[in-house]
Amino acid sequence: MSGAEENEPGAPGAGAAGDSDAVGETDTVGDSDAVDTDAVDSDASFQELLRGLRVRHGGELPVLDPDMAPDAPLPLFRRWLREAAGSDEPAAHTMMLATAGADGRPSQRTVMLHGADARGWHFGTHRTSRKGRELAERPYASLAFHWPRTGRQVRIGGRVHEAGAEESAADLRGRSPAALAAALAGAGRQSEVLGSYQELVRAFEAAYERAEREPDATAPSWTLYVLEPDEVEFYQEEARRRHVRVRYRRAPEEPGGWRRELLWP
Ligand SMILES: Cc1cc2nc3c(=O)[nH]c(=O)nc-3n(C[C@H](O)[C@H](O)[C@H](O)COP(=O)(O)O)c2cc1C
Repeated sequence: MSGAEENEPGAPGAGAAGDSDAVGETDTVGDSDAVDTDAVDSDASFQELLRGLRVRHGGELPVLDPDMAPDAPLPLFRRWLREAAGSDEPAAHTMMLATAGADGRPSQRTVMLHGADARGWHFGTHRTSRKGRELAERPYASLAFHWPRTGRQVRIGGRVHEAGAEESAADLRGRSPAALAAALAGAGRQSEVLGSYQELVRAFEAAYERAEREPDATAPSWTLYVLEPDEVEFYQEEARRRHVRVRYRRAPEEPGGWRRELLWP
């Protein structure tokens, strides 16, 4: 465990005088009937909780030697994703996707990575969702991965395009039955206001049945998107916070087509 993860005196769970209830308080999260939330959730106790939280790494942090970084970002990204997956990271293949519509106001959400290759970073969603509509208005996005076990973050920015109907259908066919059912249920209505919870339950029951009956069913709004990166940044945490940032920017004149530079952390 690195120094950055250790509890400091006074942190919940550190056993310091005066905070002996802190662990009990956090233990009751989710049990709303049993807890007077106003009593435990004062601003002060919340601040104390935040100050005591630490990123839980999975052991000694790896080192990013900028001189050893490859000429292009893709091999490094794939290596880091493999290492995140191998480090017990619970969701190594999920990322934040940030988009903005015509009004320029950003929005973000978690999506799954469906591929990363010479074409770019792939993800699937409904064209009719909020993010789909924003991408239609402004075809640029930013992706962010955070892998706490290895103390790493990757940010990717660039232009986004639709992969086309055939590839989008193949993307959906390649997913699990539950993912297909969710896509069928959400087709054309993801991000819309839902009338009631019962409506959701009914729609999903019908979609589960259909996905079982018709494993090749398609959801017309399901779209595979590809982000073509023009910037990829790798961030490696260091125990004493002398973090290392390596940024790649597309530069056709450079060998490999990318310029690599260090950034202040
Ligand atoms: C772990 C996780 C993975 C997700 N993966 C996807 C995904 O691959 N595609 C998708 O459309 N939504 C996915 N979602 C749901 C999105 O975060 C989001 O709620 C939904 O797509 C609607 O977003 P929008 O209203 O901004 O368009 C995922 C959510 C979580 C928590």
